[in-house]
Amino acid sequence: MEFNNLIYQKQGEVGILSINRPKALNALNQELLSELNIAIEKITENADIKALLITGEGKSFVAGADISQMLDKSPEEARNFAVLGMDVFRKIELMEIPVIAAINGFALGGGCELALACDIRIASEKAKFGQPEVTLGITPGFGGTQRLPRTVGEAKAKELIFTGDMIDAETAQNIGLVNNVVEADALLEESLKMAKKIASYSSIPVKYSKAAINRGMQMDIDSAMELEKDLFALCFASEDQKEGMAAFVNKRKPEFKNK
Ligand code: HXC
Repeated sequence: MEFNNLIYQKQGEVGILSINRPKALNALNQELLSELNIAIEKITENADIKALLITGEGKSFVAGADISQMLDKSPEEARNFAVLGMDVFRKIELMEIPVIAAINGFALGGGCELALACDIRIASEKAKFGQPEVTLGITPGFGGTQRLPRTVGEAKAKELIFTGDMIDAETAQNIGLVNNVVEADALLEESLKMAKKIASYSSIPVKYSKAAINRGMQMDIDSAMELEKDLFALCFASEDQKEGMAAFVNKRKPEFKNK
């Protein structure tokens, strides 16, 4: 896959998608978001990886939506721009495979929102987070008002969004915005290690678990438990469930076929 603003590579069964517009700190413009949309659609269609990493080239993960491109937008154009970003972030969230954000630097505005659409966030100790939209006279527009409170709770989300303050990686971990903080040099290695561990299992229970969590979080608890029962039962229709349990009982390593 060839793009102007993205680099896509595979390491075994893990895909690595890097946002590549470092001169503008990887700010998301129309072209970049359209390319991201195509990349996510192709990766989903190809179905040849079991986990996806999203990271940024240079000193930034993503420093937000492109401010110079938004400056003169009419309300209608601004809405269309929000829709473009929201739709692609939602596609990322709905991918069957786990998506890990490896956050190498600034994750501001739309960058923090992109990280929030991923399942797991691993941050370099140099990463910085924030929703600085109020400082520009706007609200978040790629899902930040919805995913941030669902991730860190309403009070912290309101504080971050109303003040526009930037926080460091350690603070982000303390409020539950990121899973882990690692040394800058070890970010890709540590993120890949987690992705490869996930990819070493059958893709079936991983995708069912993601679906159960993501869909269940939107339901009342009893409906969500029904969903868990159904997906748990469905695992027993797979060869990999038999293989995983037979391997345990026979004290050998399982050989999963993702079937
Ligand atoms: C356009 C950006 C940009 C952005 C950085 N750049 N962020 N261009 N949009 N969001 C550009 C700068 O203009 C500059 O270009 C180059 O990248 C390097 O940035 P500097 O500011 O010189 O770097 P530094 O001094 O290290 O400061 C880093 C920074 C700062 C703190 C991250 O760049 C910054 O505050 N950026 C804006 C962050 C922000 O407000 N994000 C939220 C955007 S709104 P030149 O050409 O001068 O070298 C948003 C809404 C989402 O995300 C929803 C939309 C629907």
